[in-house]
Amino acid sequence: MKPIRKAVFPVAGLGTRFLPATKAMPKEMLPVVDKPLIQYAVEEAVAAGITDLIFITGRNKRAIEDHFDSIPELEAELAAKNKSALLEIVRNVLPPHVNCIYTRQPAPLGLGHAVLCAAPIVGNEPFAVLLADDLIDSRSSVTQQLVEAAHEHNGSVLAIQRIQPEHSDRYGIISGDPVNEKTTRVKSIVEKPSAADAPSNLAVVGRYVLEPEIFDHLRRTQAGVGGEIQLTDGIASLMQTRGVYGVEYEGVRYDCGSKEGFFRATLEIGRKYHGLEP
Ligand code: UTP
Repeated sequence: MKPIRKAVFPVAGLGTRFLPATKAMPKEMLPVVDKPLIQYAVEEAVAAGITDLIFITGRNKRAIEDHFDSIPELEAELAAKNKSALLEIVRNVLPPHVNCIYTRQPAPLGLGHAVLCAAPIVGNEPFAVLLADDLIDSRSSVTQQLVEAAHEHNGSVLAIQRIQPEHSDRYGIISGDPVNEKTTRVKSIVEKPSAADAPSNLAVVGRYVLEPEIFDHLRRTQAGVGGEIQLTDGIASLMQTRGVYGVEYEGVRYDCGSKEGFFRATLEIGRKYHGLEP
């Protein structure tokens, strides 16, 4: 498999669960303690050797572009006042060797459609997909864990987590054949099944490494659950011709697309990395 250098960040969703906060601001700019969600995801990707960051944006997403751009007047002001620690923080938002590429999803037609918008930029290479609202605290970058698995198995890889069956209708759920203690070769995948219909308790979370063949499958994918073009349905089609693997990653995930998960992330990250106590 070719090296994995590109990562796609779909950030064109409406973020309705955080209204009114997300009325004029992207959900991915919500900060956990002092960093926006999107920056945690970008740092994870960069730690996995990704050099091209492809953001699939929509309306109201300009703040993300501004966040990853340099602000010379702010840097000059901090330098003039000898605020060197803050200057470092501002400069380190993005390492110099990393490129940001922005493209727009014309309408929020679903995650599968958002990923397809990256096709002309990704080309014929395997690539990572990171959903910034899944914040994963781990010793080694989860994207790196997936990249290693993709090379080992020569196929696409989905991050998976065991969930309580009653939460099946929040996730894509896989089933398949165990390859080793943390890896499953995926044989079926369904989007948001009821607990009764779920083929297992293995849920897909917001990290993927996909082979470029996914784009052809997504082009043929019709709207599914919720009337959206689902990445899950594209993957179900890809699986017919290429190997797709689920990997139980090492790390603690916070579902920051929900208020409860976001609140928990703030408390636990605040305690663990910032010594904060409410
Ligand atoms: P969600 O299902 O969390 O949807 O999308 P959402 O719109 O962001 O939030 P709610 O449910 O209204 O609160 C999962 C990820 O897929 C992206 C979102 O930006 C988020 O990162 N997405 C979703 C797109 O980029 N485009 C879409 O059409 C749908």
